Amino acid sequence: MKSLPPHETLSENPLIPQNRLQERVSELGGEISADYVDGGLMLVAILRGAFVFAADLLRAITIPAAIDFIAISSYAGQAGVVRITKDLEESIAGRHVLMVEDIIDTGLTANYLLENLKRRNPASLALCALLDRPARRIIDLPIAYRGFEIPDLFVVGYGLDYQQRYRNLPYITTLRLGQ
Ligand code: IMP
Ligand code: MG
Repeated sequence: MKSLPPHETLSENPLIPQNRLQERVSELGGEISADYVDGGLMLVAILRGAFVFAADLLRAITIPAAIDFIAISSYAGQAGVVRITKDLEESIAGRHVLMVEDIIDTGLTANYLLENLKRRNPASLALCALLDRPARRIIDLPIAYRGFEIPDLFVVGYGLDYQQRYRNLPYITTLRLGQ
């Protein structure tokens, strides 16, 4: 039997429209600016999914803030084991680090990276995630700054992809796969 390519249905109604993203990101930027006013701040954005969120979040932060990037790819078939394909450029030792992620699903990816960053001896380490989908959580993680909790649906846009597409949508919408 010949297998058909999966049929993708992009929802016409955004789950999170552009204006709500902007509002929430600016609120998060305000909270973060207040919390880190004394210590300095370094954002560590997880590539590729978090790059759009991190760019907007950085601009919503009103205190001096640095940003660095770490790129990962998941090992096929091994949930939660990720490979660092591009490491940070700077040392985070002694710095107040806020890891910026697009979505926390099982929590395995963020947990792996938090453990990795912790071993580099930052002064503090916290997690900021645009989206939190608790339905499939395996590892419970403290999300210090959370944009939105979403239901158990696959989403794309605002940096999130399906097979490297849809990252450029300025809103978050759901993608249904299959016939
Ligand atoms: P976790 O390790 O299961 O928490 O998965 C987190 C990673 O899977 C995120 O960094 C995303 O890259 C990817 N991911 C999980 N859910 C979605 C989704 O709904 N859309 C796009 N990417 C997703
Ligand atoms: Mg990702």
